[in-house]
Amino acid sequence: MTGRFITIEGSEGAGKTTQLAFMREFLEQSGCPVTLTREPGGTGLGEELRALLLGHRADGMALTTETLLMFAARAEHLERVIRPALAAGQWVLCDRFTDATYAYQGGGRGLPMAQIAVLENWVQGDLRPDLTLLLDLPVTVGLARAGKRGAADRFERETVDFFERVRMTYLDLARQVPERYRIIDAARSVERVRVEVKSVLAQWLERG
Ligand SMILES: Nc1ncnc2c1ncn2[C@@H]1O[C@H](COP(=O)(O)OP(=O)(O)O)[C@@H](O)[C@H]1O
Ligand SMILES: [Mg+2]
Repeated sequence: MTGRFITIEGSEGAGKTTQLAFMREFLEQSGCPVTLTREPGGTGLGEELRALLLGHRADGMALTTETLLMFAARAEHLERVIRPALAAGQWVLCDRFTDATYAYQGGGRGLPMAQIAVLENWVQGDLRPDLTLLLDLPVTVGLARAGKRGAADRFERETVDFFERVRMTYLDLARQVPERYRIIDAARSVERVRVEVKSVLAQWLERG
């Protein structure tokens, strides 16, 4: 039996990592074996690429480099973690995936979406998430939360305009593929969001 591939998306401080812990607990209680992972990262090499991507090089990096490094980490992640886990019947919960590349490198930085689509098709073949939860909230609310978490990474230092474009791109993606996405209002309390996330998962499980 092949597993299911569920991703969670949203900008900084939306509560992805917080909610994933609840999602794992709920799915395991429902009898679904879970593999919890994240992007960029999820493998030894992927985490090294993550450090390069989020770290602060004095001379930054070209947008093409950034995008190729994201997909390099993703190729590794797919081959070593995601595909084997799905083949073994695991439910893979992933903190960000290719939608984040569309939102950040595409919407945020202006890389043409068609170029991202070429890499998506090359690296993933026809593999796409079965379900994507988009935690949506006003940019300033998310940044205030993320700011409390510690030193800002290379993306967290971007401007409010950049994150507005990221947010709009995520919402556009969700409207384009409504059958895969669930948009969740993440500006509410952790508990309120948790209740909705659980109900979305429960409905989705019932649908089979
Ligand atoms: N609904 C919420 N309301 C208030 N604070 C939250 C909420 N969800 C998460 N947080 C807090 O905001 C910060 C960022 O949450 P996190 O889950 O790390 O977000 P993300 O992974 O989306 O960047 C953490 O300190 C977390 O405890
Ligand atoms: Mg996180």
